Amino acid sequence: MPRRTSRRTQGPPRAISRQRCIRICCETYTLLHVTGITRAPARDEALGLLGRFLAGDGIELGPGHNPFPLRYPGTAVRYVDRWKPDENEGLFPEVGEGANFPVPDIVTDLNVDGLSILDDASEDFVIASHVLEHLADPIAQLAEIHRVLRPGGVAMILLPDRRLTFDRARQGTTLEHLLADHAAGMQVPDDAHLEEFLIYTEGWNNERDAAKRDATFEHHRLRSFHVHCWTQEEFLPVLRHSITAMNMSWELVDAMLVDDVPGSIEYGFVLRRSLRPAGASVLAQRLDDVWAALVESRQPPVTPEPEPALTWRDVLTRHPVYRAARRPFRPVKRLGRSLLGRPSGELDAG
Ligand SMILES: C[S@@+](CC[C@H](N)C(=O)[O-])C[C@H]1O[C@@H](n2cnc3c(N)ncnc32)[C@H](O)[C@@H]1O
Repeated sequence: MPRRTSRRTQGPPRAISRQRCIRICCETYTLLHVTGITRAPARDEALGLLGRFLAGDGIELGPGHNPFPLRYPGTAVRYVDRWKPDENEGLFPEVGEGANFPVPDIVTDLNVDGLSILDDASEDFVIASHVLEHLADPIAQLAEIHRVLRPGGVAMILLPDRRLTFDRARQGTTLEHLLADHAAGMQVPDDAHLEEFLIYTEGWNNERDAAKRDATFEHHRLRSFHVHCWTQEEFLPVLRHSITAMNMSWELVDAMLVDDVPGSIEYGFVLRRSLRPAGASVLAQRLDDVWAALVESRQPPVTPEPEPALTWRDVLTRHPVYRAARRPFRPVKRLGRSLLGRPSGELDAG
């Protein structure tokens, strides 16, 4: 009986396009990140560094099975999530049995209740790592984070770069779009958002079978999906708007840029609720200035253009003996001038 050969060994090897290769790499990285199978040490280092801003008592929204690392003893965190560990394990079987979902201290649907269970100015820090993009109204959530922070408290906001995940075919969510969702008071991501997500991330072809369509939508709503998506530059207007139009007194104190960590798919902002709120326009200007400085600090130092190599002719003509030899013999020049009675300029010009 002929042995079955695997597809990989049949026929000549097929060339793999560059685009497909990039896609596979992105998907593998996204999968590894989302499932927590591995975390690049460089990422841990970068998060550890950002973690220097986390001290005191705070909360983490949506830790999933990847809680943010806390750096200092004595820093206490309470977890806020929509699902308990057994529910998470059922909804996300792909993370495997070893996944460790922390038990949430507060079970709540952020879309519906925000952080209403917490008092104003009650927290030293709030972490939201890969959470805002899952929410129907991220601006409302940002306002909630600001409300529960003490003045001087820190918000750690991490987001995936849409170009580097399954969102890569989607447009960045504009500020106008977010403001429309906010004005509509959207609490559950509507069908239009879900359709857009499915069309561009899964090639969904608008299922005609109503029952199948409802089941697909329900499945994605329960797991929560990327309702919105941004690059780091696309998210800045959201922060600027929250300062200028929504009375949030954010100071940008640090950031993790998407290019900081090799192979990274994410970026992050460390925002401090100002201790002494300045005017909104001053805070917005400071946001822009600090962002520009952070981006600038990552630019490689400018190296001066190398001098062109010297030719033998350059070496010869610069040599002092050569230059001395080329100098006109002054006594002869002076004699010529006195004999001809011409001004020196005329003689020199000849
Ligand atoms: C992609 S996971 C992020 C996990 C982890 N923070 C990380 O950075 O890898 C999104 C988390 O947000 C939570 N989440 C999503 N929508 C939520 C909602 N409406 N209310 C509360 N938690 C929500 C999910 O349960 C999950 O824990």
